[in-house]
Amino acid sequence: MSDPAPDPMVDESDFLAVMAEVCTPVTVVTSLDDALPYGTTVSAFASLSLRPPMVLVALERSSTLLAKLRRTRRFGVNILGSNQDAVARRFASKGIDKFHGIAWTESDGLPRLRDATGWIACRVQSFFEGGDHMLVTGVVERAVATPGAPLAYHRRTFGTHSEIAVSPR
Ligand SMILES: Cc1cc2nc3c(=O)[nH]c(=O)nc-3n(C[C@H](O)[C@H](O)[C@H](O)COP(=O)(O)O)c2cc1C
Repeated sequence: MSDPAPDPMVDESDFLAVMAEVCTPVTVVTSLDDALPYGTTVSAFASLSLRPPMVLVALERSSTLLAKLRRTRRFGVNILGSNQDAVARRFASKGIDKFHGIAWTESDGLPRLRDATGWIACRVQSFFEGGDHMLVTGVVERAVATPGAPLAYHRRTFGTHSEIAVSPR
């Protein structure tokens, strides 16, 4: 059992407000358990290590996907493109057949979404406690880039990235 949460030193709304200013990637993390696909929208995704190649995701302790990862110990990361905001909304829901009407195939033994701009297949290395989330580290078994405009999340809205004009010196 983890220790009870200590009294917060900052106001929750201040923390949420500052984090809303952080532009994050949008991914759908997936797993396959007993031939059934599971997936969840995840912004807390980052590259962790190059040698060996590793990534990190953070999942709410109540996440259904987290329970699946504890069993299967494998996961896929679908890095969403700018035209996949509806996919992100769908996989941010709970308790419905999230894959209904979604174009996906099995790849590396994991659910892979069509039209994502990146695909990473991982084997779980470790789970770490992180407050009300769990950090999951994964060793990358396959990485495929399909370059395209990314889906980004900023101030609770979906958008994309664009290059800024080079400033004159
Ligand atoms: C843009 C966006 C980013 C999200 N990022 C995360 C995340 O990093 N980790 C997480 O656990 N939930 C995240 N969520 C919330 C989950 O997608 C949501 O709680 C989902 O219903 C969990 O489903 P599950 O219980 O089937 O795993 C995010 C939601 C949105 C809309």
